[in-house]
Amino acid sequence: MRLKDKVSVITGAGGGMGRVAAQKFAREGAKVAVFEIGEEAGRKTVEEIKAKGGKAEFFHCNVADEANVKEAVQQTVQTFGKIDVLYNNAGIMPEDDESVIDTDAEAWDRVLNVNVKGVMLSCKYAIPEMLKQGSGSIINIASFVAYMGCSVPQDAYTASKGAVVSLTKSLAIQFRPRGIRTNAIAPGPIETPLMTEWLLTDKEARDVRLGRQPSGRFGKPEDIVNCAVYLASDESDWTNGSIIHVDGGITSHYF
Ligand SMILES: NC(=O)c1ccc[n+]([C@@H]2O[C@H](COP(=O)([O-])OP(=O)(O)OC[C@H]3O[C@@H](n4cnc5c(N)ncnc54)[C@H](O)[C@@H]3O)[C@@H](O)[C@H]2O)c1
Repeated sequence: MRLKDKVSVITGAGGGMGRVAAQKFAREGAKVAVFEIGEEAGRKTVEEIKAKGGKAEFFHCNVADEANVKEAVQQTVQTFGKIDVLYNNAGIMPEDDESVIDTDAEAWDRVLNVNVKGVMLSCKYAIPEMLKQGSGSIINIASFVAYMGCSVPQDAYTASKGAVVSLTKSLAIQFRPRGIRTNAIAPGPIETPLMTEWLLTDKEARDVRLGRQPSGRFGKPEDIVNCAVYLASDESDWTNGSIIHVDGGITSHYF
């Protein structure tokens, strides 16, 4: 087991890649703290893990709400005694986020609040816990869109993921001397509810992305989660400040 007894907070673990991550982490021996805004979804992840003999607990958490995050971190420490891994996975990509000229400022704020402030708040409360033991691994989920323009724009989402990349670098430099490494994964398009609901209804968006994919398929949650297991495990002790592209090669595409 690569994550035996590692207490791992995974945000947005009630669905998509977060749920697959929670299940895989539990199979690798982690004690998983499921931070999720959707109570039913979060509890389902925990039930599935426990049914297979794994260890997990649900903590209701809207990552954009400071009081919520603070309480969920406190409850995690009360339940499991420490935090070894913070996996900032929760993110949103709403339909009303388009080009800046077509997007309401309210939609912009909503996306930045979850995708950027959510990462900041989770770090704000989890890092002091990691500092107590002098070790920890932070895994931030960015996106390939932080590196590429897209003809079907989602400008708030794109800007939010650029911010996640920059924050990852800053945290990596600040906290590695005190034992905490910070890395990000920049996934390409992955077949999760977030993507498929949108791409099934928007043929142009689907064709643009698949046409530029050298591997000829969209990614699977497991493609990302396998990388996250490495980053959470002690195997990645000397990996810090890295943005790992797990995208089938889409960001290498020129024409
Ligand atoms: N799917 C893709 O193609 C893709 C590509 C690149 C990056 N990403 C990123 O990967 C991450 C996971 O994406 P996904 O496709 O699995 O998404 P998803 O929508 O399938 O699942 C996201 C989960 O986060 C939860 N969530 C949403 N807002 C929350 C909040 N405020 N607080 C707590 N939980 C919240 C949702 O309820 C859901 O369970 C996101 O950060 C996303 O931006 C996804």
